[in-house]
Amino acid sequence: MKRRKFIKSCCYTTIGITLAGSFLQSCGSIYYASVSRNANKLVIAKSEFWQLKKDKKVYRSFVLIKTEDSEFPICIYKIKEDTYVASLLKCTHRGCELNVGGGIYSCPCHGSEFSVQGDVLEGPAEDKLKTFKTETDNENIYLS
Ligand code: FES
Repeated sequence: MKRRKFIKSCCYTTIGITLAGSFLQSCGSIYYASVSRNANKLVIAKSEFWQLKKDKKVYRSFVLIKTEDSEFPICIYKIKEDTYVASLLKCTHRGCELNVGGGIYSCPCHGSEFSVQGDVLEGPAEDKLKTFKTETDNENIYLS
């Protein structure tokens, strides 16, 4: 193998490993919580926001849920103690599924960005995301 070809090959390998690492790291934080129904409400246990890592209880800032009613997931963010916001991860521009990361929702199609409250941070989308009313008790979060 010629020197130039070898160096080029090493560069591609390094870039590939870096991108794969970033991708795997971002996937690691995505967690789909269990959801049930009670009347017209979706019910998610607050305990879904906790996980055990090396025998330590670690807090998740958000969880995703999937229902049979929608092809898009719903993201539930805990923004304060006992305060949650839930948004449908469907871009209001042309309907692509949004990504979650860095404390915002971003659209892979044309670059719109939304706050976790569903407000538009960056266009081309102009409308707020669909959000759900949230209520809580000691154990659960209820979406309607
Ligand atoms: S579909 Fe999301 S920005 Fe166009």
